[in-house]
Amino acid sequence: MIKINNLNKSFNTPYGKIDVLKNINLEIKKGDIFGIIGFSGAGKSTMIRCINRLEEPDKGSIIIGNKEITAMSKNELREIRKKIGMIFQNFSLFDSKTVFQNVAFPLQIAGYPRKKIKDRVYEILELVDLKDKINAYPLQLSGGQKQRVGIARALANEPDVLLSDEATSALDPQTTFSILELLKTINKKLGLTIVMITHELEVVKYICNNMAVIENGHIVERGATELVFSNPKSETSQKFVSIMNSLNIKNTCIGGDGI
Ligand SMILES: Nc1ncnc2c1ncn2[C@@H]1O[C@H](COP(=O)(O)OP(=O)(O)OP(=O)(O)O)[C@@H](O)[C@H]1O
Ligand SMILES: [Mg+2]
Repeated sequence: MIKINNLNKSFNTPYGKIDVLKNINLEIKKGDIFGIIGFSGAGKSTMIRCINRLEEPDKGSIIIGNKEITAMSKNELREIRKKIGMIFQNFSLFDSKTVFQNVAFPLQIAGYPRKKIKDRVYEILELVDLKDKINAYPLQLSGGQKQRVGIARALANEPDVLLSDEATSALDPQTTFSILELLKTINKKLGLTIVMITHELEVVKYICNNMAVIENGHIVERGATELVFSNPKSETSQKFVSIMNSLNIKNTCIGGDGI
């Protein structure tokens, strides 16, 4: 479903050029829930943002389905993005729009009639348990509520691919569980392919069938989640697993902004 070939990405900063992604090759199958872990600054968000070209890769190709994202014009990109949902690490909500308007936005872009938009927004807000906040503005919401608006917006247009950057990091365990159940259900029912960046190892273990480990801009390990956890090979996964084992608690949080 997603094929990344020789992806390279650098940023120019006042201190010089930094190479953030170095020759990334990755294949994610249709219907996969694919986890990506790595320590803070490893390049996870940059990589996921390259997949829908929110970041422009320097080199390499990205193919979704049978379409090469990296060869698309702006118009073609706008079209395909309608079926790629993205949950952002920093929520990226429109502050001047209400919860309803935020979630309705991708449906308006996709050209749905008003009645259908209304029905779908109500339906999805019910699923993420936010109906009582439908007229609130993002500034009036808690972090977890904002995150759920982001999740609702990403799922509103029934995407084929969901790119999720720390979707559950601001949620309490109960809400995390219900969101994971929701993602699992959609994955099974609709064959939604999910790319899931998370620093919550329990989340990877619970929901991801395959995973990759990113270390300093390189993919250093990949495979079935069970195998990576039972026999971690890279420095990153060994550290993650040993910290998880020594903490031995649910919702272990390592590696993201929130350590
Ligand atoms: N727009 C940018 N300009 C310059 N440097 C950037 C930019 N975006 C990211 N970087 C740098 O690229 C590196 C990777 O950042 P990225 O956000 O991809 O990390 P991450 O793995 O998602 O980390 P975290 O777990 O903290 O979210 C970091 O060193 C960061 O400072
Ligand atoms: Mg990040």
